[in-house]
Amino acid sequence: MAEFSLPKNSVVKKGVKHASTSGGKRLKSFKVYRYDPDSGENPRYDTFELDLDETGPMVLDALIKMKGEQDSSLTFRRSCREGICGSCSMNIDGKNGLACTTAIEDCKGEVQITPLPHMDVIKDLVPDFTHFYAQYSSIKPWLQTVTPPPSGKERLQSPEDRSKLDGLYECILCACCSTSCPSYWWNADKFLGPAILLQAYRWLADSRDEMTGERLDELEDPFRLYRCHTIMNCANACPKGLNPAKAIAEIKKMEAERIV
Ligand code: SF4
Ligand code: SF4
Ligand code: FES
Repeated sequence: MAEFSLPKNSVVKKGVKHASTSGGKRLKSFKVYRYDPDSGENPRYDTFELDLDETGPMVLDALIKMKGEQDSSLTFRRSCREGICGSCSMNIDGKNGLACTTAIEDCKGEVQITPLPHMDVIKDLVPDFTHFYAQYSSIKPWLQTVTPPPSGKERLQSPEDRSKLDGLYECILCACCSTSCPSYWWNADKFLGPAILLQAYRWLADSRDEMTGERLDELEDPFRLYRCHTIMNCANACPKGLNPAKAIAEIKKMEAERIV
């Protein structure tokens, strides 16, 4: 009989508690995942107690306050603080999202914060995006042409053609969708996942791009494209309100139409 056991460091231990010293009444607890693979120690959950009267409104404000006042070793990514850069993607109370656009008041009870699921952790809330970016690079995310621009200068688009990029160009590559996709969890080595496929469709849908056939050839693969089983977790997870599943369906349609 086969026996399975989890690695020793898969057990998340109870960590330390950083109590609020404010004396305020509106206290809120945050249970935050802490892990340093280089330390050889198991991951742990630290509890941070904050006074909401002294904390900004968003989960990212809370993390910045924890790092600034309670534990400077707490590690997370952030940059724009307004949902544009995609850096602060993480799992908040079981749902992938952006810490900078998630309001603390929308989180009931103790707020649990963990890194994006199914990615290697570099430290605490920082996942390793190396593979994700390599997959992004593999779809050649830039305009590819073979003919010179008709006017000799610019490649113009009609407003109608430009509108075909709506719902695609807004993607901030936060990976909230890919890391909520069960197919991507189990096949990330070969399946491109919803974020990268949405990006692939962004170039297929661009009227100025002249490599449509080559792009479709690259995607036509049982794993790269067809591991999507339309489970739709990706659309539920996207903090920008995009629908990667629809983009994937459009790619499959383009593949089917050229076979006919
Ligand atoms: S629709 Fe496809 S890409 Fe989106 S979560 Fe489901 S399987 Fe993954
Ligand atoms: S489609 Fe949405 S969830 Fe996925 S990477 Fe782009 S912005 Fe993030
Ligand atoms: S900090 Fe840029 S998206 Fe959150």
